[in-house]
Parts: sequence; C-alpha cells; structure tokens
Amino acid sequence: MPEPTPRHYLMCRPTYFSVQYAINPWMDPSVPVDAALAVRQWTNLRQVYLDLGHQVEEITPVPGLPDMVFAANGATVIDGIALGVQFRDAERADEAPAYAAWFERSGYQVHRPKHVNEGEGDMLLAGDLLLAGTGYRTAYAAHAEAQEIFGRPVVTLHLVDPRFYHLDTALCVLGETVAYLPEAFSPGSRAALRRLFPDAVLASPADAGVLGLNAVSDGLHVVLPSQASGLAAELRDRGYVPIGVNMSELRKAGGGPKCCTLEVRR
Ligand code: ARG
Repeated sequence: MPEPTPRHYLMCRPTYFSVQYAINPWMDPSVPVDAALAVRQWTNLRQVYLDLGHQVEEITPVPGLPDMVFAANGATVIDGIALGVQFRDAERADEAPAYAAWFERSGYQVHRPKHVNEGEGDMLLAGDLLLAGTGYRTAYAAHAEAQEIFGRPVVTLHLVDPRFYHLDTALCVLGETVAYLPEAFSPGSRAALRRLFPDAVLASPADAGVLGLNAVSDGLHVVLPSQASGLAAELRDRGYVPIGVNMSELRKAGGGPKCCTLEVRR
C-alpha cells in the first residue's frame, strides 16, 4: 500500500524566468512566455506541497539566470551530503555556485563534482538505489563519482530521446516502484528497469509528451502536470493520489513540477 512520508524541498521562485536560449527541444525563444502566470503556477505548486505537510525552503533567484527556477538541477542531497552540480551548457553554469553556496550556508557537507552532473534532474533515489541518467546532460563518469560520495549503488540508465533529456522527464520514483516511458531508454536500460521494477507503471508517449513523468511523489500523493490524464488515472488505479498542477509556462523551457523541486535529505 502506498504510504506518504513528510518531505523537505528546496525551490526557487521564477522571478527572472524566461526562455532566452534553446538547450533542449522544448525551448523556443520566439514563443512568448507569460511571466506572471509562471509565477502563479509555481506559487500554486509550492502551496500544494505545504498543504500536504511538506517543508519548503526557498533559494533567492539570481537575475540573468532564467532557468534557476529548476531547482532539481541544483544538487543531489542524500544523508546531509550535497553533491553539487556542473552544467553542460554555459548559459546555466552560474547556477552551480549559487546552489552550492546555499547548501554550504545551510550546514551541508558540499562536494564539487568533477564531471558534468545536473543534479536530481539525472539522479533519482529509489529506495537504496540511485538511478542515474546519461546521454544528454550528466556524464557517465559522474555516476561513479556519485556512488563514491553517497555509498549507494548507482544504476546507469541511457536516455535516447532528446525530448526526454533529463532522467526526471522520463521516469518518476513513486515509492516502492517507479513510472517511466520505456521508449525514452536504450534497449539494455529498458531491460534493466524491467528487472528492477517488474510492477512499474508504464507511461504512454502521450502522457510523457506533456512532461507527465516530471512528477513528485511523497509515496502516496503524486504531483504531476494536469495534462497527463491517462497517467493520473493509472496511478489512481494503483492506489496513489494524483494531484494535477498546470505548469504550462515552465514547460516552455522543458520543465514541470519535479524540475522545480529539489528533495533535501538530511
Ligand atoms: N531549460 C532547462 C534545461 O534545459 C530545463 C531544466 C529542467 N529540469 C529538469 N530537472 N528536468 O536545462
């Protein structure tokens, strides 16, 4: 039976959010973004977490870093250890020291990564396993580095569809199991996921195509984009409680609820 546990999240208000460059196929700087609506949608997401009883902390947004709202890319935090990030793209490079400084100030042991590592965008803790994506952003070498730092077995998963450029756009940890889009993974990674999670929820391309898998679960509730109606119905059948949120503006940068949410584990 799905069981909720209280969570601790770090978020970054989208004060300076916009789409000014294109580093994933979702981004088109010629498509207008409603900045005020983005802030309202983000504020609603934050309120959903508070209403569920979760703790939410905020990092101060930095002008000139429009993607800093995607806090999941700020670090990977397990057992009070924060593994910092190193972005593939120069446009996001300055977010890394901003997040590392926040964790240092808050008393976490911070490790600077040696390889490209985009934090929880590509590293998702599933029980004792750290599921780690590679192919577009986080380097394969970063997986071994994470295993040394956290002492958790790392399972490498190869992403093969550029629309699902971060692991958290193709897979969501639900608690005991996961939900994922098989087509987003290489044949070997798909087979490995089948072995690890025989009861996984398999998402449809349509639901993944609205970033439905970019979802945040506390073990019972699953906060996901409201457009992912098929996935929500499937989750309900499995005993989870889906909570739809509209993230239309942040999706224009390739982000959803999970991208905006970094889980902090003391
Ligand atoms: N525009 C951002 C990028 O391409 C979106 C990041 C979304 N974050 C995530 N955890 N998937 O880097």
